[in-house]
Amino acid sequence: MTDTTTATTVLETTDLVAGYLPGVNILNGCSIVARQGDLIGIIGPNGAGKSTLLKAVFGQVNIRGGGVQLRGEDITGLKADRLVAKGVGMVPQNNNVFPSLTIEENLEMGLFQQPKMFKERFEFVAALFPELVKRRRQRAGSLSGGERQMVAMGRALMMDPAVLLLDEPSAGLSPVRQDETFLRVAEINSHGVTIVMVEQNARRCLQIAHRAYVLDQGKDAYTGTGREMLNDPKVIQLYLGTLATDVEEKARTASQPVAEPGAARAAEPRAEQP
Ligand SMILES: Nc1ncnc2c1ncn2[C@@H]1O[C@H](COP(=O)(O)OP(=O)(O)O)[C@@H](O)[C@H]1O
Ligand SMILES: [Mg+2]
Repeated sequence: MTDTTTATTVLETTDLVAGYLPGVNILNGCSIVARQGDLIGIIGPNGAGKSTLLKAVFGQVNIRGGGVQLRGEDITGLKADRLVAKGVGMVPQNNNVFPSLTIEENLEMGLFQQPKMFKERFEFVAALFPELVKRRRQRAGSLSGGERQMVAMGRALMMDPAVLLLDEPSAGLSPVRQDETFLRVAEINSHGVTIVMVEQNARRCLQIAHRAYVLDQGKDAYTGTGREMLNDPKVIQLYLGTLATDVEEKARTASQPVAEPGAARAAEPRAEQP
């Protein structure tokens, strides 16, 4: 974990106001900070504006107030290609690979602005995702959801981003694949990559996040370390209640002895932190 008092700020949003339709703001003054080496979690109910926050940072939503800074430079409202060149890597929730291209071609696309860097960056990404290298000539469209997620992260990492934005990397994956994905995200972060991760799976997210924000109606309603927030009864009751109990409830139901044994084992939760 980074020393929050001295580490440099990589990404900061200040009182961000943004929306899609005229007169309707989805973000209502959202402020977050990610410092060098941070793994920041963004959680909150469906429709709170989590994806919109990442899209606003990545130049895909009109910003009506506030701003975005990358390493102290104002990047508010820049378009995605300029942001990528400046070091913002984004992995959207859906449609995040080119299905008709091979794994290797997808990774090359991540470097379209600087093809000369390919060898060096490919080695970095290959070390993180060795299973992708073995299958580099396979079309991305033939991969499973979890594998596509890895290709998408790998592609974003090709540019050696200053900050990596991940929108619900575990969405739609089986419990086992979800666990793998969270471990992968933590591993990428352990190599020094600053990460801002939006997640619906609040408990898992808080388990690996250094710090997290609860987004509520487009505002950062609450922040703390992942551990503090996991154990804060007020946060659980006000913001995580349904999310946290949903996950636990599903896990409990799935591990009832009457359930099909194979399915029960697969869905069994790993030991929770105390
Ligand atoms: N392209 C869009 N056009 C209009 N409204 C949108 C669009 N995308 C999202 N919204 C609205 O913005 C709100 C927040 O959505 P989103 O940021 O996707 O929430 P979250 O990711 O937290 O579930 C929702 O009310 C949603 O309907
Ligand atoms: Mg979303």
